[in-house]
Amino acid sequence: MDQVGGTNTEATPSVPSEAEVAARVESLIGQMSLEEKIGQLAQIGGASFVPGPKPEDVIRKGGAGSVLWVNDTQKFNALQKIAVEESPSKIPLLFALDVIHGYRTIFPVPLAMASSWDPSVAERAQAVAAREARAAGLHWTFGPMLDIARDARWGRIVEGSGEDPFLGAAMAAAQVRGFQGPYLGAPEHVVACAKHFAGYGAADGGRDYDPVYLPEGRLRNVYFPPFEAAVKAGVGTFMSAYMDLNDVPASGNRFLLHDILRTEWGFKGFVVSDAFAVANLVIQGFARDGRDAAFRALSAGLDMDMASNTYLEHLAGLVEDGTLQMADIDAAVRPILAIKIRMGLFEQPYTDEAKLAEVLALPEHRKEARLAAQRSMVLLRNEGRLLPLAKSLKHMAVIGPLADSKEATEGSWMVFGHTPAAVTILEGIRAKLPDARVEYAPGPEIRRDIASWFESVMPSEVRKSPQTAEQAEAAFQTAVITAQSAELVVMVLGENADMAGEAASRASLDLPGRQEELLKAIVALGKPVVLVLLNGRPLSINWAAENVPAILEAWEPGTEGGHAVADILFGDVNPGGKLPVAFPRKGSHAPLYYARNLTHSPEGSPMYNPRYWDGLPMPLYPFGFGLSYTTFSIANLKVSTPQVKVGSSVAVTADVTNTGSVLGDEVVQLYIHQKAGSDSRPMRELKGFERLTLQPGERKTVNFQLGPAELGYWSTNAGKWVQDAEAFDIWVGADSLATLHTDLAVIR
Ligand code: BGC
Repeated sequence: MDQVGGTNTEATPSVPSEAEVAARVESLIGQMSLEEKIGQLAQIGGASFVPGPKPEDVIRKGGAGSVLWVNDTQKFNALQKIAVEESPSKIPLLFALDVIHGYRTIFPVPLAMASSWDPSVAERAQAVAAREARAAGLHWTFGPMLDIARDARWGRIVEGSGEDPFLGAAMAAAQVRGFQGPYLGAPEHVVACAKHFAGYGAADGGRDYDPVYLPEGRLRNVYFPPFEAAVKAGVGTFMSAYMDLNDVPASGNRFLLHDILRTEWGFKGFVVSDAFAVANLVIQGFARDGRDAAFRALSAGLDMDMASNTYLEHLAGLVEDGTLQMADIDAAVRPILAIKIRMGLFEQPYTDEAKLAEVLALPEHRKEARLAAQRSMVLLRNEGRLLPLAKSLKHMAVIGPLADSKEATEGSWMVFGHTPAAVTILEGIRAKLPDARVEYAPGPEIRRDIASWFESVMPSEVRKSPQTAEQAEAAFQTAVITAQSAELVVMVLGENADMAGEAASRASLDLPGRQEELLKAIVALGKPVVLVLLNGRPLSINWAAENVPAILEAWEPGTEGGHAVADILFGDVNPGGKLPVAFPRKGSHAPLYYARNLTHSPEGSPMYNPRYWDGLPMPLYPFGFGLSYTTFSIANLKVSTPQVKVGSSVAVTADVTNTGSVLGDEVVQLYIHQKAGSDSRPMRELKGFERLTLQPGERKTVNFQLGPAELGYWSTNAGKWVQDAEAFDIWVGADSLATLHTDLAVIR
């Protein structure tokens, strides 16, 4: 059996060799009945909302290979004991949960981590998440989410790395390394799961779960690269997406799960469905019934059925009547057993319950979370250098429904409970200025018009007793009065945690509720106002972008979010994040992304066609954008050779200088444009980036390589990967509108 996960190819006492794993797998398979094998292909839900027999009874019969939606160390050990002592084959269970941006110490949401443009931030965050999750008894996380998202209405944009395949691929590999460590089975790490394969982020209309239509070129050039990067980084598992991709459900899609994933990319791990997705094949109008669904999913290359029990119910019958062969079942079981062996579960199936508290209390975890939050924030506006604020401020008002919300600070995906440990923005500011008068008023509450299904699993604070219109009005007035007497106002606005994420798409990208009205009323007081945004997607903040002097995009920054915001507001940290996704001016402009093909002259030229007559289509803030408390110049753009042969590489260099007066970070970005070719190519594509820290006056040279991987693409016309001998534009700069330009010719 081939190696899965990481680079270990040699046997060490704790790391079994490939041959050893393969031999152990075959010996187990040789002893297992058909029923036991099918049990390994079933992942059962341990939460109260899942109907069906008690997990204990299913496990005792050998009917489960994995359990999800349990988060209790004692329960893990109790279930494991049943598996390894009472079940027929005594194979340990793999415990899985969505640890998306932290287990107890919550890190910024993935979209925020991508804003750091620093893959090491994501790698270290997921390593901490893995350590805590593993200490709790989990072996496997359903992350990273690698769906490219170019439509800000889609709620799950918060879980990914934004709109760009190049940035997405870098963040994908980093997260896999963080979760899994140097090899699959490394101590204090978990198995990662690349999800949702593939195309889920391109849902029609941004509506979660709606069908996706993506031509092969778009899949290969844009939606696949983060997934392929995860395979190259050794990811142990994949999760199939829910929706139809070009009229074939992703969970029954042999092109995706077999042709691309196994044959082209050589993936050797296993594929789990998304929750209930095997049973859904019937609802999707694809499979005739449960039996047909089991047959078509397994035949497509889907190894483990998450929570739908369809495999448990139907696979045996399919083998017995010869529709499936035992070899088909064995092929699905093998990689599951291999991962259990590599994770050391046969040797150590249990978790030390006494150790968890110690691991969760490790102070370095919170330190990492604060650093990650600091590096993830994006300064969107800073007129008149209002920021950083003076620590000599005596009287501030902190206003807004999210200013003291632990839920909004931690963000989406806290299915198993928010932690009381999160530091809100109000708390962070008060901790930073212990002697100042810092007054707080939330203003009217915000909440979803239509509650999420998840509300039944994780009720949010605000829905418990909704404000009446009168209470909201009183809260509005109190907020204005509170701001009136302060020297300066920090407004914390955006979205609640349940407004982005799964089943949390929106038609509008406006600030929900009365937030913009409150912002206008407070700006009208004539005081300096700083807007801090807590949100899981780009928002259309057109009015604020013109009228509020300072805007900090803090995203959903996690446990240490409040401290990190205060660090930035008061200048202890200079913000250096950049947007991993464009901010549209309106929800109806979505999908919106920089790497699009042109038909007419580009923006700025006299022949420019504005596309809409009732509003500018350009983003409010472009991809890659973010300000700093210092200034930078980027100059001296050079290519090592003006002509490069197909298949060879060229170096692109530029000098970056901190021209301001404080230490700061710049993310230098390289974009290319191929001027002609087998297909039309996007007007710009990111092909390199580097985040640098520079002292005032300091200069560094950045060095990027452009080779066949960067200059080639999958051509629709040619039906294959090509590298054309054509002319290219090259830009290097501080965002996707970079103007520093040079030419490059690719020749035969
Ligand atoms: C989501 C997945 C998640 C799974 C298990 C599904 O609803 O789409 O992303 O991993 O549930 O919780």
